[in-house]
Amino acid sequence: MENTSPQKTETAARGAEGREQLSIVIVGHVDHGKSTIIGRLLADAGALPEGKLEDLRERCRKSAKPFEYAFLLDALKNEQTQGITIDTARCFFKTARRDYIINDAPGHIEFLKNMVTGAARAEAALLVIDAREGVQQNSRRHGYMVSMLGIRQVSVVVNKLDLMDYSEQAFEAIRSEYAEFLARLGVETVSFIPVSARNGVNIASRSDETPWYRGPTVLEQIESFVKPAAPTDLPLRMPVQDIYRFTEHDDDRRIVAGMVQTGSLAKGDEAIFQPSGKCSTIARIEGFNSSEQTQAIAGQATGVTLTTQIYIKPGELMCRADQRQPRIGTQLRANLFWMGKSPMVVGRPYRLRIGAARVQVNLAAILNVLDASELSTVQGKGQVDRHDVAECVLETVRPIAFDLHNEIETNGRFVIVDNYEISGCGVILEQVEARTSMLHEHVIRREFAWDKGNVDRGERQARFNHKGRFIVFTGPTGNARHELAKRLEQHLFRKHCNTYYLGIGNVFEDLDADEPTRSVSRDEHVQQLGDLARIMTDAGLLLITTLAGVDDYDLERLKLLNEPNQLFIVNVGENIFSHFPVDVQLPDGADTRDAINVVIRELNTREVLLDYCI
Ligand code: GTP
Ligand code: MG
Repeated sequence: MENTSPQKTETAARGAEGREQLSIVIVGHVDHGKSTIIGRLLADAGALPEGKLEDLRERCRKSAKPFEYAFLLDALKNEQTQGITIDTARCFFKTARRDYIINDAPGHIEFLKNMVTGAARAEAALLVIDAREGVQQNSRRHGYMVSMLGIRQVSVVVNKLDLMDYSEQAFEAIRSEYAEFLARLGVETVSFIPVSARNGVNIASRSDETPWYRGPTVLEQIESFVKPAAPTDLPLRMPVQDIYRFTEHDDDRRIVAGMVQTGSLAKGDEAIFQPSGKCSTIARIEGFNSSEQTQAIAGQATGVTLTTQIYIKPGELMCRADQRQPRIGTQLRANLFWMGKSPMVVGRPYRLRIGAARVQVNLAAILNVLDASELSTVQGKGQVDRHDVAECVLETVRPIAFDLHNEIETNGRFVIVDNYEISGCGVILEQVEARTSMLHEHVIRREFAWDKGNVDRGERQARFNHKGRFIVFTGPTGNARHELAKRLEQHLFRKHCNTYYLGIGNVFEDLDADEPTRSVSRDEHVQQLGDLARIMTDAGLLLITTLAGVDDYDLERLKLLNEPNQLFIVNVGENIFSHFPVDVQLPDGADTRDAINVVIRELNTREVLLDYCI
């Protein structure tokens, strides 16, 4: 048996160029017969390699094990014959009409994780219910998840009808109960199919056992699912995954790379990156392993170069200036499905992922909690427990660019990471106008609790001959700000200033990578630094530090945390801010002495240094 990697298998299974491919997810309570249905489908649709079924029957007979269609999935694992491939949770097969990927979710939590992380996709769903066991709590949960994920085509397969003597009443009872439940969720079912996967009834062919049934077989149903049109008509949303730089021959072009989620973009379009609001025009659309393109549309991975060099970071959302913009804010009302081991609680930091953005988020309020199986609501709950669905308000520490789930589904969906694990996922219902932010509240509490000494600011200024300031050297990563900052400290110190160089820039450079592999996130770090600066500048210090790759929002937070004292920004190299004012702009590679003089002069002009001569 050939051993292939999942990637290889997938590519191979994508099938001939140009063939339509449909992703279907099959969900159902444990043992309700998902694997048997898939096995039967492969066998009865004639998709199995020659002799495979007989081999398997023979092997079962030899080992005195009763034959099961579900075994086919294991037997076919890693095999690539006649277009069927199966890996851990997916099965690829072809019919004359098109190619299929069937995701067999091991459990509903896994399923949900796979779906929300993008590991799996589904354009249609088969919900399996065991006719004898009927609608279970999990069956309701699955229905809820399907609705939350916005899967529009759902067929309910009522399996094991042989155990109910193919009774129409048994089938109808389940149909009416579950249809009513799904209708309340707003899920439209395209069909309810009575089957016996074990006996092959209504899987690929109709049977005399169910003369009362006139609807499609499972195979007919999947063949008639409609492939949703790529959402090219919606406004452009392209999360920026990475920025690649050309380094050869002094070429400083950058390719902004990502996957076009919705809409389309063309050469000459004006692009806006959100939430920074930076703009430029698309100069070229680069094809991967192909020549330049004139357009890229939803579903394509692409890279573009811009006519002007603007500094943007991965995590931004590329939009088009001539189209509706995403919402930008820090507070949102959402429906959240929690699957974390520990409950989600107010006041603990989590990480939110939306598009390519990753940001610290807090649970600001729980509005009500929904029991996913009964659809009843519980009010006044203080935490979101595992498997709860909560309507809540979330607050991010910096603005994010998002859409509402009912406007642009892909950009209205997020994931929450707790302790390195995906612990929750949800859909955005509404933007909430921020009355006050958590950071404001933190500052108010901090100032309120602060018992100040008897020496006032004026006395300190008179003693030191300067004001307290937080001097921050910024700029894109990787330039020589540290040396400048240290020299400034030395220079000021020798002039009897009360100054200190805080060398934590390297920590920040590291934190730029941003993945939650560190104990302290970048956002938490900004807060600690801001609190520290507030104390040091209050003590009358000229506190100097360097921060790599900070953006407008980082500086805004530092400013707020350091108030009423002020920041003094020295930017070295390219100005990467869209609106935060820079006090001194220095070219990269400036002479150190000249640079220090420029900074000192500005500190003089701003009356930070009083009666100071260079
Ligand atoms: P998990 O993967 O564990 O969630 O189970 P599953 O949903 O894939 O169920 P699977 O296909 O493994 O079937 C579970 C059991 O139900 C097996 O013993 C099957 O033989 C049996 N079964 C499946 N379909 C039918 C059916 O139509 N009739 C009867 N009588 N038994 C069936
Ligand atoms: Mg199974």
